[in-house]
Amino acid sequence: MDTQRIGIVISSSRPTRIGPKVARWVSTLAPAGADVEIVDLAEIDLPFLAEPEQPATGSYSMPSTTAWSERVRSYDALILTVPEYNAGYPAVLKNAIDTLHAEWKGLPIGVIGYGWGAAAGSVRQLGEVLERVQAVTLAGPGLRFGQDLTPEGEVLEAAPADDVRGLYDQVLAAARERVPA
Ligand SMILES: Cc1cc2nc3c(=O)[nH]c(=O)nc-3n(C[C@H](O)[C@H](O)[C@H](O)COP(=O)(O)O)c2cc1C
Repeated sequence: MDTQRIGIVISSSRPTRIGPKVARWVSTLAPAGADVEIVDLAEIDLPFLAEPEQPATGSYSMPSTTAWSERVRSYDALILTVPEYNAGYPAVLKNAIDTLHAEWKGLPIGVIGYGWGAAAGSVRQLGEVLERVQAVTLAGPGLRFGQDLTPEGEVLEAAPADDVRGLYDQVLAAARERVPA
């Protein structure tokens, strides 16, 4: 069976964020057959929609856009780890999505929310956006502060590791079924 390349996205960029701890934990649960890589949106540091052409044209003039496009295209699937900011998902993630267009079509994307209430509002909003860009969205488990995760990002015993493994299975299956555009 071919190895699938999966990007585990850190969707927050605050200097004191816990996103890297969550993404690292998710990456440790990857099965054989998944080659996982952390995708840190803080490190990628995209400018806010600075291209003259709309992303739907596919006409990219900025090296940062081209590099982000190539990075996304290098994965068979993504898993987004997503917090909740004022009932929504972080602006840095919206910008990363809006910067590209065709790259998302048909891409399997698993979603794992974390926060109070497992970031349910954020995950709901994100689902609408991923549907619009025609990604194949796969709902993963949420991590609740006080139950699965501390607010400082320490993963607790009750964290749904088996559900994350189940998400990997779904994401890998969707990636194998994907017909290249
Ligand atoms: C601007 C801001 C707004 C927040 N709003 C919410 C919220 O609506 N719901 C929630 O569960 N947590 C909220 N929180 C708390 C976050 O869940 C918590 O800070 C989490 O660690 C954020 O992820 P990060 O550390 O990776 O940035 C908010 C935090 C910030 C910084």
